[in-house]
Amino acid sequence: MKSIYQAKRYKIKDIQRQSNNNIMLRIKTKINPSPGQFVEVSIPGIGESPISTASYNKKILDLNVQVVGNVTEALAKMRIGQKIHLRGPYGTSYPLEQLKGENLILVAGGCGVAPLRAVIEYLKERRLDYKEIHLFFGFRSPKDILFKEEMKEWKSLYHLNLSVDKAPEENPFNCPVGFVTQILEEADISADNSSILLCGPPVMMDKSITILENKGFSTDKMWISLERHMKCSTGKCGHCMVNGKYLCIDGPVFRYDKVKGIDE
Ligand SMILES: Cc1cc2nc3c(=O)[nH]c(=O)nc-3n(C[C@H](O)[C@H](O)[C@H](O)COP(=O)(O)OP(=O)(O)OC[C@H]3O[C@@H](n4cnc5c(N)ncnc54)[C@H](O)[C@@H]3O)c2cc1C
Ligand code: FES
Repeated sequence: MKSIYQAKRYKIKDIQRQSNNNIMLRIKTKINPSPGQFVEVSIPGIGESPISTASYNKKILDLNVQVVGNVTEALAKMRIGQKIHLRGPYGTSYPLEQLKGENLILVAGGCGVAPLRAVIEYLKERRLDYKEIHLFFGFRSPKDILFKEEMKEWKSLYHLNLSVDKAPEENPFNCPVGFVTQILEEADISADNSSILLCGPPVMMDKSITILENKGFSTDKMWISLERHMKCSTGKCGHCMVNGKYLCIDGPVFRYDKVKGIDE
């Protein structure tokens, strides 16, 4: 039986350019991580990076990669048919089973939308199990919007609130210009029987949490995904430890009241 500690080779089945510095790799695998979990992706001789699952599917796995350094740049240069190594899945996930019967509010910025794409795919299969679903997604500019094709479908199925910080070029979605936190502040959402799922830059999550607390949302109804440098991803090396928590096994998804004030 294959162990989660052991990397396995997978052929890249498809590659989609999402924006200037984001690509999505698709591989065929049955590992089907839960939304919020991540895998370790490596290229021998270059290195290894934790990447969140961006899909919820029993046969394929989508990984959205934002180019920031060596490994992610090498991944972005891969071609269909080439092989990557992958181990996992690792970490905690958004507690979607536990949140059945509630309203869900998903808040994300930039490539933080990728793990929530996995949540959306999960919810699509179980739409009747949840009440209202609101999406608040912010990107820097129209050309940075990820999952453009899916946005059209998400708009028809959920309350999609898309925003861009600036729109110097064409704005095909005609979305409001301003930070996603501004849109969240102006939104008519109720804390009653609602849970929040957050992912994105720490400053965006902090601001969103303050806004939501002011609207009456309680911190034990908020779930956030935290990012740290990781090595083993299995709770062995201590590389990801912050305030006594291993972000790779206790996280990356935490209930916010449990990690409030954790050192940034
Ligand atoms: C649980 C988890 C899930 C992630 N999911 C994704 C994902 O879905 N898509 C994606 O593109 N990236 C994701 N990341 C971040 C990704 O792992 C790093 O960007 C990548 O490892 C950088 O490797 P590199 O060799 O390309 O760049 P490096 O040269 O190692 O780093 C380039 C820059 O990125 C910073 N950096 C590197 N790793 C991290 C990290 N873990 N957290 C914060 N900053 C970092 C470095 O400090 C440096 O400034 C995730 C990280 C974690 C911990
Ligand atoms: S990355 Fe090694 S303990 Fe978390």
